[in-house]
Order: sequence, then structure tokens, then C-alpha cells
Amino acid sequence: MSGTPSRRLRAVVSRSGLPGDGVERLSARFDVTAWKGTAPPTPTELAGLVRGCEGLLVLGSDRVDAALLDAAGPGLRVVALASMGYDGLDVAAAVERGVVVTHTPDVLADTTADVAMALILMARRRLPAGMDALRRGTWGAFRMDAFLGLDVHGATLGLIGYGQIARAVARRAAGFGMRVRHHHPRRKEDDELSRWVPFDELLRTSDIVSVHTPLTEETKGMIGAAELALMKPTATLVNTGRGGVVDEDALLVSLRRGELHSAGLDVMTDEPRTDPSDPLFAEPHLVVLPHVGSATEATRAAMVDLAARNVAAILDGHAAPTPIPGTPALPGRHPRPMDGTRP
Ligand code: DGY
Repeated sequence: MSGTPSRRLRAVVSRSGLPGDGVERLSARFDVTAWKGTAPPTPTELAGLVRGCEGLLVLGSDRVDAALLDAAGPGLRVVALASMGYDGLDVAAAVERGVVVTHTPDVLADTTADVAMALILMARRRLPAGMDALRRGTWGAFRMDAFLGLDVHGATLGLIGYGQIARAVARRAAGFGMRVRHHHPRRKEDDELSRWVPFDELLRTSDIVSVHTPLTEETKGMIGAAELALMKPTATLVNTGRGGVVDEDALLVSLRRGELHSAGLDVMTDEPRTDPSDPLFAEPHLVVLPHVGSATEATRAAMVDLAARNVAAILDGHAAPTPIPGTPALPGRHPRPMDGTRP
């Protein structure tokens, strides 16, 4: 008996050549279209690509707003981010449209925590200054007073936010003989790794403050001039969470005035930063990296794989493995839109 063959469901991927074989496995079962350009698609280009798709796999740096969701059309069932953070996604707009939204927890905490520790060591021990001297041929001679930094072992580490990545940093800090404390606005609990303290106390008493909060209305600019002024002049600030949580202008002022010892940023507002004369790159007590927290081959492949598994699950009619906290795991309109805030 012959019939019209059923159409394979369509999934769009916002980049080509993503690490791992997650997209390849998705392509074996669904009709997958990946963006071909070498540069990331503009919002208009992405809107053109997604028309009529049921599944969409995007990166954390892609903007997914109501306009993009509407461009995809009413058949869209899932938007899977290959990232843990979801500040680029309008969660409420997706949930209102019955679209499942997923992210990639569990697979990147240790890799990102490694970079937080690297930034702590680089900034506090002033290691890039040593490399700069070698590159410029100005090392000269061994001097007892050259390239002096501050100790990391024995220091007090304050973690702002206490999710998977912060706890992975706390585990590493124990090995460095650091005292660890944390602040989370709602979960006011101690555990075997760290003690909960109020926000101001954390800023005042920590030698190193490491930021691990998502970017939300609540956390935007949460480390500004007033908060930096509470920190010790010998303190180091590190941010591997999201740009925008730290006020970079205020940070530069503190560093230049010597009111803060050093800082390390893996994330910045307005990424990517492409101007080599950016004042952030010129500040000698500031180490800056281009958002590489999760950048290992294995971790990036695991992120893409998990995002692809989320797309496949929904297109197969199953619950998504890792929906964004507080959002439904199955598509369909919900009587009261959920706001997607973290529990
Ligand atoms: C994340 O997963 O949120 C990282 O910042 C990469 O996007």
C-alpha cells in the first residue's frame, strides 16, 4: 500500500562545524539545516533560517526573542541552548508559545571552575606581567622584588552565587588550603565546602571574590563602585559568570586607584570585544580572557551533544532531559506563563 511519505521533522542549528558528533546524530534522524556562514548569523539571517522548523539548536551568544520565535512559526517545539547560561533567551516568550527551552547544566562546571582558578592564580600572582616581560625582553635579572604577587594558598575565597560552577571552585579551593564562604540570596545554607555569609560580609572579608551568578535583572551591575569599595585593597575579583554582573568602568577606576589589587574576567559586557585598544585590555592589574570557561574539546562536545539530545527528545515526543529550571519539559501551551527564574 503506498501513501505519502511523512515529512521528517526539521531542526535548525545556528552554526556549522560544532564540536562532537551531536549534530551528526541529529542529522541521521531529522532534517537538519545548519547555518553555513563563517560569521555568526545576524538576527535577520537566523530568522530566515528558522522558518518552519520544529527544533532549534543555538549557542548562548545567539539572541532568541519573541521575533525569532514567531519567525520560526507555530510548529516550533523546542529551543535547545548549547550553554548553561540563558540570558540571551526570552524564556517567558518561549513558554507562552508552548516552546520547550533547554540548557546544558552538569557538563561544564568542572571545566569552567578550572578557568576560575586559572584567573585567580594569574591575577593574584601577576603571572601575565612575567610573560609580558619575557616577550618584550625586559626580564633583565632575577630580583627579589620583581613580579611580586599575593598568595593564593591560605586566602579567604568568597563565592557570589553557589551553583554547580561555584561548588566546583570550592572543591578546588579546598586543595589550595583556602577558606571558602559563599553568598546566595535564597539558599542560606552552609555545606561541607563553604559557609553562607551575608553579601556585604563576603565582600568585606574575602581576599578573593569569584562571581558565579547568572545575568538577570536582579544581578545586573551587582558589583559596582559601592561593592568594590567594600572589598579589601589587597583583594582580587574574578568573574566567570556573565559580563554585566560586574560594572567594568567602576572596576577600572578601583584598579587604577589601587583600591583593589587585581581582577580576572572571562566574561564581559558587549561580547565579543574586538578593539585591541579596549581599556580593559590595557589595565596591568586586570587579566582578561575571551569567554573560554567551557572551552575544552570534550566539554564543548558534551554541551552540543546534550543540546542535540534535548532537540531529539522533544521531536520524538519525550520529555526534554534538561529544561531550563522552572519551565515545562514538554511542549504545549500553559495556562499561566512561567517566568523561567531559577528556583
Ligand atoms: C555557558 O554555558 O553559559 C557558557 O558561558 C558558554 O556559553
